[in-house]
Amino acid sequence: MPRLIVYSVMVLLMLALIPPVVAARVRATPSEGRPIHIIQDMDIQAKFKAQSENPEYADQRAMRPEVVGAVARGETYLNPHLQNGVVDGGWATSLPEAIKLELKTVERGQQRYNIYCAPCHGWNGSGQGPVNQRALSLMNNADGPPDGTSWTQARNLHDPGWSEQPIGQIFNTVTNGKNSMAGYESQITVEDRWAISIYVKALQRSQNAVMQDVPTSVREEWNR
Ligand code: HEC
Repeated sequence: MPRLIVYSVMVLLMLALIPPVVAARVRATPSEGRPIHIIQDMDIQAKFKAQSENPEYADQRAMRPEVVGAVARGETYLNPHLQNGVVDGGWATSLPEAIKLELKTVERGQQRYNIYCAPCHGWNGSGQGPVNQRALSLMNNADGPPDGTSWTQARNLHDPGWSEQPIGQIFNTVTNGKNSMAGYESQITVEDRWAISIYVKALQRSQNAVMQDVPTSVREEWNR
């Protein structure tokens, strides 16, 4: 092979090394300037910066307020009674200050319970909701081949030992889940989780109620 070609190839190879060396050096050196983006990804795009104006909105603000119904989570728990149902290291037996025991709270709890809990625990809390029944029928499908369905029976909320659970413990189960039941902290607001817990206590009471639990005025109305 002619010398000229050999030398030319060697020189070209040396030259070819320069760009990677320069790139490596630049990457390792802190710089105030913008990085060079060969592939334009989403770092560089038209956008509104924090605290800037956006004429598209009536209030001209680019930063939008919190969406109605957004559930706050992962923040510091400054109030263990409200956030976890815990008072002095034990389960709360009373409501936190922010939650008022009113008929409309119980009714809200009933409505939310029927949406979130009744599918498994049933309307009356006995653990026989439609999801539970469907899972049991799949598991007990004696004719078909085993399909690997396994299911934990939703707790009967009137079982001894559970029917007397303090309201704080029920709230904690709704919030963080328990064993094979998932928590609802990310889906249900803290007020609604308390409303549901109040309703669960009412359900539990309803299964062991005596006539004296019904206010006299209501009983009089029935007897009329
Ligand atoms: C997908 C089905 C399902 C849904 C929905 C569900 N649960 Fe449960 N729940 C279970 C199962 C299963 C258990 C038993 C968990 C275990 O011990 O493994 C349970 C257990 C419980 C317990 C007893 C916890 C303990 O101390 O042992 C309470 C109280 C409870 N659920 C309340 C609720 C409430 C209130 C809701 C609605 C916010 C709800 N559950 C929604 C399936 C469900």
